[in-house]
Amino acid sequence: MQLPSYKEARSRKRQTVKIEEYQSLKESFGKDKTYYIKTYGCQMNEHDSENIKAILEELGFQENLEMEKSDLIILNTCSIRENAHNKAFGMLGRLKHLKETRPELIIGICGCMAQEEGVVNEILHKYRQVNFVFGTHNLHRLPYILKKYLDSKQQEIEVLSVEGNLIEGMPVKRASNHKAFVNIMYGCDKFCTYCIVPYTRGKQRSRKKEDILKEVKALVQEGYQEVTLLGQNVNAYGKDQNSEYRMENLLEDVAKTKIPRVRFMTSHPWDFTDQMIEVIAKYPNIMPAIHLPVQSGSNRILKLMGRRYTREEYISLFDKIKEKIPNVSISTDIIVGFPKETEKDFLETLDLVKYCKYDNAFTFIYSKRENTAACRLEDKIPLKEKENRLYQLNTIVNDYFLKNNQKLIGKTVPVLVDGHNENGKTELFGYTDTNKLINFNGNDSLIGKIVFVKVTNAKTWSLDGELVESRN
Ligand code: SAH
Ligand code: SF4
Ligand code: F3S
Repeated sequence: MQLPSYKEARSRKRQTVKIEEYQSLKESFGKDKTYYIKTYGCQMNEHDSENIKAILEELGFQENLEMEKSDLIILNTCSIRENAHNKAFGMLGRLKHLKETRPELIIGICGCMAQEEGVVNEILHKYRQVNFVFGTHNLHRLPYILKKYLDSKQQEIEVLSVEGNLIEGMPVKRASNHKAFVNIMYGCDKFCTYCIVPYTRGKQRSRKKEDILKEVKALVQEGYQEVTLLGQNVNAYGKDQNSEYRMENLLEDVAKTKIPRVRFMTSHPWDFTDQMIEVIAKYPNIMPAIHLPVQSGSNRILKLMGRRYTREEYISLFDKIKEKIPNVSISTDIIVGFPKETEKDFLETLDLVKYCKYDNAFTFIYSKRENTAACRLEDKIPLKEKENRLYQLNTIVNDYFLKNNQKLIGKTVPVLVDGHNENGKTELFGYTDTNKLINFNGNDSLIGKIVFVKVTNAKTWSLDGELVESRN
């Protein structure tokens, strides 16, 4: 048993990260058994689940889309806000009942919550129905952990507090056969004061450019249309390595593979360079859609959050991106009700939002995370007030989403077709280059292709359109 420790998770060791090739455990104890994975949280977690699925399938397990009927259930959890926590614990309650009716059911927990000392202690003492736990640093150990549990029938917990080697060559079962996530870096060293990620995902470690490019080239060969380069803070790519090769170089090399679409997330404003902007503007296959989390419009709050930029610096970066990248859409993340946020601070956020007129925004009420620096700040804002701020903010941002979408009416836009809309068999949906959801009528054969669609109607969250034969 190996339990996580907060203290160790905070430490940042200097030693260089070693690269290790994934080794399959050549056994098939999953034969005739099925699995189900429930994934919470960000794309990083979704991509981890794609690895976990492939690892399980190497062991003989098969995917079952019905949770209640599967032999193995894994919850890949997220710690970012309290409600993510609550959802996972709520699910564990449900699974307890399921396990009472089917004692042979195997239950595993992984993901960011598994990296939390408090959570693992709770699982150890209160959630005995959980059979095994592994963390974000040791997905590759899943076969061994599972085998250990199956052999001993004792709760098996193996969570590393400090990241180990960087594992290359893990198998992957991608959710889509036209869009792919590609990790370019792991972890985060920014330590924004509200955020738990630097504790749950470890120190920043960039993958080698050769490994990333090899993965992207293989995806091109397989006919993939889009890659999303993933990291908590992709603009800092390479800063942890002994080389001058940075995000702008990587973006350029990925664009040169001729993959039709390149996206990346998330961009911390601090590391966004002019060279990156130039490269994005130069290559038509780097999508003009940038997620640029601002978090707050008040300098006082930005400082308390440890974000390392001022409102003025953010706006100047924002303006530069808008000016240099034609048609760019910019989205953001905003937290309201951060400890000590006054009405004046909040109004500064509203003011900034009115200036930026974002294409999309993810807005959150501050959630206190154990062990982070902000959890020591006195939080006196009543929940009602925080909810009221969120409501006011959402009213304004939603209005801009609609207005920005309306500007597209009559225009013809490129769309990567994802699949059928739930509304009907003939309706397809996909995303425009600027990352807007669009619905239109079309044939199944278009799924996975990039087509041109004329925008006919705009809503707050999506567009409607008509397929056009060619761009004119
Ligand atoms: N690495 C990304 C953020 C990942 S978390 C970045 O730095 O941009 C996604 C978003 O969740 C953050 O941008 C932030 O807005 C929000 N978030 C993170 N911690 C939070 C907390 N404790 N309470 C509320 N929202 C939080
Ligand atoms: Fe969290 Fe900040 Fe790192 Fe983003 S950059 S993951 S918000 S600590
Ligand atoms: Fe959540 Fe971990 Fe992602 S905390 S948002 S799953 S990095």
